[in-house]
Amino acid sequence: MPLIPRQIGPVLLAALRRFPATVLTGPRRSGKTTLLRSAVPKAQYVLLEDPDIQDRVRRDPRAFLEALRPPVIFDEIQHTPQLLNYIRTIVDGQPRRMGRWLFTGSQEAPLMQGITESMAGRAAVLQLLPFSIAETPKVDMLVGGFPEVVLHPRDRALWYASYLQTYIERDVRSIANVRDLTVFRRFLSLVASRNGQMLNRTDLAAPLGISVPTISEWLHILELTGQVILVPPYFENFGKRLIKSPKVYWGDAGLACHLLGIQSQAELERSPFLGSIFEGFVASEILKSQVNRGQHKELYYFRDQQGLEVDFLVPQPNARFWLVEVKASKTVKPSMAGPMLALTGNTGGRATRRIVVHRKARTGPSFRALSKGVEALTVDQFASEMNGGKGARKTSAS
Ligand SMILES: Nc1ncnc2c1ncn2[C@@H]1O[C@H](COP(=O)(O)OP(=O)(O)OP(=O)(O)O)[C@@H](O)[C@H]1O
Ligand SMILES: [Mg+2]
Repeated sequence: MPLIPRQIGPVLLAALRRFPATVLTGPRRSGKTTLLRSAVPKAQYVLLEDPDIQDRVRRDPRAFLEALRPPVIFDEIQHTPQLLNYIRTIVDGQPRRMGRWLFTGSQEAPLMQGITESMAGRAAVLQLLPFSIAETPKVDMLVGGFPEVVLHPRDRALWYASYLQTYIERDVRSIANVRDLTVFRRFLSLVASRNGQMLNRTDLAAPLGISVPTISEWLHILELTGQVILVPPYFENFGKRLIKSPKVYWGDAGLACHLLGIQSQAELERSPFLGSIFEGFVASEILKSQVNRGQHKELYYFRDQQGLEVDFLVPQPNARFWLVEVKASKTVKPSMAGPMLALTGNTGGRATRRIVVHRKARTGPSFRALSKGVEALTVDQFASEMNGGKGARKTSAS
């Protein structure tokens, strides 16, 4: 089957032209190995997970490297981080030779951190997230974006179950002292049930009978391994505020549905979690559009003490931003724009767009102006706007 092109492709190629080394991180099974191998088909491929290879590296790292002919892809570099010191020496000896050393690693701190530190200034660091809706229209709330689920959506229950198993047993165990795996598994579902809420660690700790510091540590792991998104409140004081807790979202909506026991579109439609899953879905699309264009992830929510709330504030160049409200209901009403209009008045003209993102308005795709200065966009339309209005996919009227 032909590969689905990745949006980050051009950013990766630019990195290869500008840096001697490139590191591709990201959650497990997001497509890292596939991307590097297809982007640089002539590169030699070394899978460092292979015990024989690890053995050769351990015995004589210099000889191991000398036998290679760059460009080389080192897959799963976290298994042999000691190689990096030798590669750094080679890179420093020929600093103008670009695109020769490519690495993947699942985002396992502190190993990945060590990797990025030891290659500082010599390596571009990119992150590959699961598919976005701009990459394939097969992405939706129930299916999420992991390539294997997108390609075989019917098998998703089994896939998620084994994904969680591998994730917990390999990634989580290797970085944290998780003694009781069943409790950790319950923790994952509990986090999914708090999707879209302000993070309350005590509230998560109590039902599991574990301490608040443990909850903090576990959440940190979920964030580092790219599983959950923490959206901080916007700090700047538009005259009022102050709320400090981030909002928590599961990064892949399909995995969130699985953790909540939602198995079909019909169940999703009836679910009390529909609104928050949709909100998380939009949040992850925003972040994907940022990292896929080589930008930093940056997303906030707004809430002040008077109770004025706007779901998302998306930074734009020149200290401007877009305000975004996410509505799972299929009908959009002008009143949904109220909070965004109220907030706009306090931002000194910096809120350049106000957008209600909805699932699919009954009125069809031409319905974009909700009220004066407010747009109503489907997720597809919104994703295409996030990507600079290019590659817009037409949404059919329903
Ligand atoms: N662009 C793509 N188009 C179609 N299928 C893809 C694409 N990228 C990845 N896949 C499929 O998804 C699966 C996982 O991809 P891959 O092994 O590249 O992910 P990974 O991030 O390297 O995973 P791991 O963290 O386990 O190393 C593979 O079976 C691959 O065929
Ligand atoms: Mg891989």
